[in-house]
Amino acid sequence: MKILSVVGARPQFIKAAVVSRAVSAYNQYGSKRIEEKIVHTGQHYDYNMSDIFFNELQLPLPHYNLGVGSKSHAEQTGEMMVGLEKIFLNEKPDMVVLFGDTNSTLAGALTASKLHIPIAHVEAGLRSFNREMPEEINRVITDQLSSILFCPTDIAVENLKNEGIPNKNIGCKVVKTGDVMLDAAKIYSKKAKENWLEDNNLKANSYILATVHRAENTDSLDRLSIIISALAKISDDYCQIVFLVHPRTMGVIAHNAELKNKLDNSSIKVIPAIGYLDMLCAESNSRLIITDSGGIQKEAYFHKKLCVTLRTETEWKELVDAGWNRITELQAESIIKTISQMLKTDSSLLSYGNLYGDGRAGELIVREIADFID
Ligand code: UD1
Repeated sequence: MKILSVVGARPQFIKAAVVSRAVSAYNQYGSKRIEEKIVHTGQHYDYNMSDIFFNELQLPLPHYNLGVGSKSHAEQTGEMMVGLEKIFLNEKPDMVVLFGDTNSTLAGALTASKLHIPIAHVEAGLRSFNREMPEEINRVITDQLSSILFCPTDIAVENLKNEGIPNKNIGCKVVKTGDVMLDAAKIYSKKAKENWLEDNNLKANSYILATVHRAENTDSLDRLSIIISALAKISDDYCQIVFLVHPRTMGVIAHNAELKNKLDNSSIKVIPAIGYLDMLCAESNSRLIITDSGGIQKEAYFHKKLCVTLRTETEWKELVDAGWNRITELQAESIIKTISQMLKTDSSLLSYGNLYGDGRAGELIVREIADFID
């Protein structure tokens, strides 16, 4: 049985590492063998956005790297499709495995489906219902084209049902597996780089960890300026902020003197993007997490940390319902108010359950893939 896993962006390396480990385990104990090849589109290419994940998570090195890099959506997706088509035709896989909601996911879905290669989608069914997000478009299309849809939550299963998936006429299958990101947190927590705190002169529970990278927050200078003003106020008046800056955000700040000054004149500690093992340490020792990332909202919960999401909607609604996460209007006063309220919230009073499964999503996914191909 041969599968090709298509990855390209930072969160996909983590998800693919979980599935790859499960493939290796299956090959050790299963009656049949799955041959997996990794295809990297090259969407992310900086060392700290790509190579570090392969090194730290022991994800097998990609058999192919398309080296597509940063481009407009159409150019990036189109170039990936051209490269993927050649590889798929050459490799003739039994199944293509796709992760999450990036342009690499979309390119894989369009290319595989037109070559009639079945698709397994890991992290299916998530919806923000905001079609201005490129990720939402990527998810909706990938889910429509997939043969097996692996959902992390009940809400994801429900979202698919509302869109007519599974559909008897098409013959696709929906499986609730839990979240591979929980598997990753469990597997790699043992390897978390605890010296990250000391290296950065930080003490446990003394800082708020912040990340901002979504296009809707960084493409608008007004929005990014509102966010940085709010973070500066929180850092100066409430609790120091440690801002882990994605290259996209760093690029915007570097080209805008006003934003740069705002950041330089505040007590915010700025650190460029870090690897996953450092991130586990940064998250688990923080007092609170502020983010617009999907994955980090859940990682906050895995580490029993409260989270403020710098968006007006989230795909991980169960965290908002349970009180662990709060979304916020993108106005400085609303952001500051929400963060200051969260700093006063006692998380030990909140219920904590297995919203994301039991940390064995990878194993379930590989078993389903093997059954499907067989
Ligand atoms: C992508 C995904 C998003 C995911 C995120 C994780 C899409 C549409 N979005 O967003 O779902 O949450 O990755 O990080 O696929 N850049 C670098 N070096 C890199 C990578 C990116 O400098 O290694 C910079 C470039 O300036 C580029 C910008 O980041 O213009 C955006 O990169 P891109 O891959 O388009 O999207 P992300 O914002 O990273």
